[in-house]
Amino acid sequence: MVVVHRLFTQEYRASVALVRGVAAGDTARSAVVADHLGALGIMLTEHHLAEDELVWPRLKDDPAIEPALTVRMEEQHERIADALDRVRQVLPAWRTGADPALRNRLADALDGLLPALDAHLGDEEKHILPLVPGRFTAEEWAVLSERGRAAVPKAHRLYMLGALGEAAGPDRYAEFLGRLPGPVRLLYRAAGRRLRRRTRARLDGTAKGSPRTAAPA
Ligand SMILES: [Fe+2]
Repeated sequence: MVVVHRLFTQEYRASVALVRGVAAGDTARSAVVADHLGALGIMLTEHHLAEDELVWPRLKDDPAIEPALTVRMEEQHERIADALDRVRQVLPAWRTGADPALRNRLADALDGLLPALDAHLGDEEKHILPLVPGRFTAEEWAVLSERGRAAVPKAHRLYMLGALGEAAGPDRYAEFLGRLPGPVRLLYRAAGRRLRRRTRARLDGTAKGSPRTAAPA
């Protein structure tokens, strides 16, 4: 769970500069960046939905959880949902037009998402995750991971795999690898770093043949 949280903060934090870096009218770039943000939005929404359905009903009356914590985390959820709504409102029009006013609104919405996301994921890691081993079986917890995996849009799976490996860092690398299905683990072991460089360069617009580096027509 911690690795997935790191993926969200890593990618949303990087996305603010990515969005601000798209020039007015550069629709080739806005499409790439908007699609990435669309995928992240789907993943984060599903992450919270799965927790709401599978985790909170089991914990809400737990004496180890203080009512103030529940209230605070629900408020954070709402702030995250509001910021994601603001992102969704702007995304389709900015994707196709790369209008600079929409770009600024989008970047501001992403900026507004980050503090709520940091606070929420931090609370979850500090107060909720330590309770999990005594209250959920490994099989029950695996359902959450499976839902998270299934929510990643197909076209974004390679990118997210590389991003997840980076988010794991050295301290969570073994956990990250251990949770991958066998064939994916083999692929990552053989080509993970290269994969990360390539998919990241495409998103950043620095890959060979990507819109930013292509020779002018
Ligand atoms: Fe979570």
